Amino acid sequence: MPTVFAGKNIVIGVTGSIAAFKVAGWVSTLAKEEANVSVILTESGSRFVTPLTFSALSGNKTYGSMFDDRDDPMVHITLGQNADIMLIAPATANTIARLANGIADDLLTTTALVTRAEILICPAMNSRMYSHQMTRENIAKLKAAGYQLIDPAHGMMACKDEGEGRLAEWEDVVEYMAKSLTPQDLSGKKVLVTAGPTREHLDPARFLSNRSSGKMGYAMASAAFRRGAEVTLVSGPSTLSSPAGVATVSVESAEDMYNAVIGRADSMDIIVKSAAVADYRPAETARHKVKKEQIEGQLLLSRNRDILFELGRKKGEGQILVGFAAESQHLHEAGKNKLLKKNLDLIAVNDISGNDTGFESGTNQVLLISAKKTKRLPHTSKEHTADLIWDEIVLQ
Ligand code: PMT
Repeated sequence: MPTVFAGKNIVIGVTGSIAAFKVAGWVSTLAKEEANVSVILTESGSRFVTPLTFSALSGNKTYGSMFDDRDDPMVHITLGQNADIMLIAPATANTIARLANGIADDLLTTTALVTRAEILICPAMNSRMYSHQMTRENIAKLKAAGYQLIDPAHGMMACKDEGEGRLAEWEDVVEYMAKSLTPQDLSGKKVLVTAGPTREHLDPARFLSNRSSGKMGYAMASAAFRRGAEVTLVSGPSTLSSPAGVATVSVESAEDMYNAVIGRADSMDIIVKSAAVADYRPAETARHKVKKEQIEGQLLLSRNRDILFELGRKKGEGQILVGFAAESQHLHEAGKNKLLKKNLDLIAVNDISGNDTGFESGTNQVLLISAKKTKRLPHTSKEHTADLIWDEIVLQ
């Protein structure tokens, strides 16, 4: 399945930081996804990684000086003109200062002034340099001028100082890059997505739950971010990392999820309930571990509140409500019933009869039902499924 990067002209500026070696891996990944990657390596960048490394990984020549390309004497213009996106990573304090002041004294900064593609900047430097007032002012200036800054991570740096300044992780950077290349059909929309299971505690050691991994809901949240939405993800316990650009609220039980969702619902344009919420909880949660003999044959359960039903009951004017359902038979009938009962605009019914659909798997097969039509989506990755579901949601 080709990704959003296939066939795109991506210019990557690499500057003089020890983190430059990490970007070699990014170039390799993008080239494998059939992007046309051109690396501009600054003079100090080339002290850390050689031009040959980037050429071998990108399959293209690595650019250095403005004046050493005999084939294209206008390279300082053409690279920027042809770019679909420009990434500067790692970006040193010095490069950030030059960019913020419109200085064009090498190929990288000149290209940045020429291009009209979005420019993403990943700062990487010692935390003292990063927190310095001059760097803060330069970053603020770049943001105001429309550059997309990707915050560095917090942690131990090469100099053994600990703080903010480590190059952002690829998992985050790739999301911002994908967003930059994706049509923004959810721009200005506030979206709330739920994901994962809930845990209903019997005591400090035991709980009732289900097999939901959160993959489907996290894919829905990431896809909405890439399409320009302001996304809140309310997630039950999951091993997945919070998606880039998404405000994640972690919850444990169905009651926690109820409060987190209902409290935010009124301000949302679109709500997608991918979570597998436990229908029942132990009637009582013991403060201390219950002896097994006390449980046998007497586990009393109470019904949890149906969050989606409540959302459907109080749905605001113009608000779009999307449910999910996990079914192993009579998919259409079960989906249609839930669509009507919960006052939904759309429901995605997961076929959980196979091993490679529904819970835990990386792929899914979904029947999408609205009041007007039913559409069977192909068996594909959850990321692709999420995009296909959003394609339908934006038509509602
Ligand atoms: O997380 P993964 O491993 O990727 O798996 C994905 C998934 C199978 C969990 C997911 O895609 C899915 O199908 N989620 C809904 C499963 C489910 O709980 O279906 P349901 O028929 O029980 O509920 C129907 C809808 O009502 C769901 O949107 C659910 O979030 C909502 N609900 C249910 C009960 C409840 N108390 N409150 C709710 O809001």
